Amino acid sequence: MKISELIRSLVPYEPGKPIEETKREYGLDKIVKLASNENPLGVSPKVEAAILGSINNLHRYPDPSSYELAKVIASKHTDLNIEAGNLLFANGSNEAIDLLVRVYCEPGDKILTSEKAFIAYKICAQAARALTTEVKMAEGFRIDLKKIQEAWTPEHKIIFLPNPNNPTGTYFPRQEWEDFLAHFGNRDDVLIVLDEAYTEFVRAKDYPNGMEYITQTSNLMLSRTLSKVYGLAGLRLGYLVGNKEYISYLQRIRNPFNVNALAQAGAKAAFLDDEYIQKSQKIVWEGLDYFYKELSKMGIRYFESQANFVMFEVPGGRAQELNTYLLTKGIILRPLAGYGMSEYLRMSVGLEEENQMAIHFINEWLKSR
Ligand SMILES: Cc1ncc(COP(=O)(O)O)c(C=O)c1O
Repeated sequence: MKISELIRSLVPYEPGKPIEETKREYGLDKIVKLASNENPLGVSPKVEAAILGSINNLHRYPDPSSYELAKVIASKHTDLNIEAGNLLFANGSNEAIDLLVRVYCEPGDKILTSEKAFIAYKICAQAARALTTEVKMAEGFRIDLKKIQEAWTPEHKIIFLPNPNNPTGTYFPRQEWEDFLAHFGNRDDVLIVLDEAYTEFVRAKDYPNGMEYITQTSNLMLSRTLSKVYGLAGLRLGYLVGNKEYISYLQRIRNPFNVNALAQAGAKAAFLDDEYIQKSQKIVWEGLDYFYKELSKMGIRYFESQANFVMFEVPGGRAQELNTYLLTKGIILRPLAGYGMSEYLRMSVGLEEENQMAIHFINEWLKSR
């Protein structure tokens, strides 16, 4: 069988090291996983009740249109006049990225993004036989919108922009975004995908929230997820907001039941659970401030983050060594060699005691060197 060279050479997404695997490998009972930017609070009781309440209907196929979910999102943005036709729901925003590339790129087309941007864009593009152009970052691992603008050619059918970005935690500010939109907005030869997976954690005052631009920019797609602030990474729900015509093409090719019944029930409850959202934000902001303080004390260079994790540079470039040391202590962080940053680690915010444990063992490793 002849297999496409792009499939043969595809390096699959490498998720955070699983808890059970780490327990087995290192003979440990307790694991602190700070590797996948998950929500450490656990599932909201309201979401749990909603999911349990929907179990009796599992013998039926789910609503293929996720109608109730669309209604909830519309009700949260009444000022924007968002309707069901503006929304596409997916099995995590990762599926939405996949659908975007499949619809908007022909084999041989290209997508444009930043280097060290969330890796799924490149993987999904390659799976659809499209190529990726990655543009150098600006100082401080910031996405350089000017350079991206300069690098664009008509072959680039989609520009993927994560704001804030994973794994760097950095963001681009309002002015840079508006300059970029002045150039690319409302064109019909390129789609702009703004990935706001971490938007609820942003504290920067000059952060441009994509929702503000969606109605006035015909070629803008906004990607959101329930995996982060809503604490539902395991349930798999992401969604796109965009103009009705562009959304309709994605609807044509998605699997009819891509969002399962439990995800629809749980997500609906999650969207309305303001108390849980505020708690999630608080724990992340306090955790980040704690990390900044402790990393500074240790003389470790970190990058201020607008997300629920922080990226830091391991002294002496010994990230792999520190990572292995932490694994032996039951702490899983995320190495970033796959992003070409082998001297850096990414650490998600956990519960207070989990954060303290991680810091304790980083400190211990530093002292033992
Ligand atoms: C920037 C960004 N976008 C999208 C996703 C995918 O999220 P999910 O597929 O869980 O919705 C992630 C996950 O970590 C992410 O970091």
